[in-house]
Amino acid sequence: MNGTFITLEGIDGAGKSSHVSWISEFLQSQGKEVVSTREPGGTPLSEKLREMLLSDAMDLETETLLMFAARREHLSQVIKPALARGAWVVCDRFTDASFAYQGGGRGLDKSRLTQLEQWIHGDCQPRLTLLFDVPCEVARQRIALANRHLDRFEQEQAQFHDRVRHAYLDRAAAHPERFRVIDGTRTLEEIRVQLEQILTQLQP
Ligand code: TYD
Repeated sequence: MNGTFITLEGIDGAGKSSHVSWISEFLQSQGKEVVSTREPGGTPLSEKLREMLLSDAMDLETETLLMFAARREHLSQVIKPALARGAWVVCDRFTDASFAYQGGGRGLDKSRLTQLEQWIHGDCQPRLTLLFDVPCEVARQRIALANRHLDRFEQEQAQFHDRVRHAYLDRAAAHPERFRVIDGTRTLEEIRVQLEQILTQLQP
């Protein structure tokens, strides 16, 4: 793989989505080919799976397998071809979200997730994972202020999001070589300065 795979993670309301387009534009301004995408989603089939995942109640194993089914399709149709031709892939969520939400949030055994991770993309891991971290109360306030329809995950209780947050932080501690934890309570400007430093230091 010649390209560079970057993922963004964080609890709902951590603010990561507002940074995806900025990161893509920054990298493009440096002359890179950038593929900006998201999970669950990123292909027509995976977007259909996303719709179901965000709205329909389902068994935890079903939810997990559909997340990985969407991911497999996304990897084979979009991520791997882009990396093979040397592009930079900026992906809003990836497998760390499965460890955080299905594992930490819903309590699925981590060994199951590790098996799926190995099976579906043992040969392809992000080079850099930006974890936007905010206390759950801050995230909940932001979501409430947005005043829009909440998906199945956003509707979960505060304790759920607290478990998701801690699962993310545990995952960051376990993989310090690729994780960078960003304090999502800082201003947009401060975060952009930090992101620019991180991206500039990242060797292709
Ligand atoms: P999100 O990426 O936050 O989209 P938006 O910014 O439009 O709300 O929504 C995706 C949701 O899917 C999010 O709540 C986390 C959840 N999710 C999982 O539970 N497991 C996964 O593996 C992935 C990729 C996402």
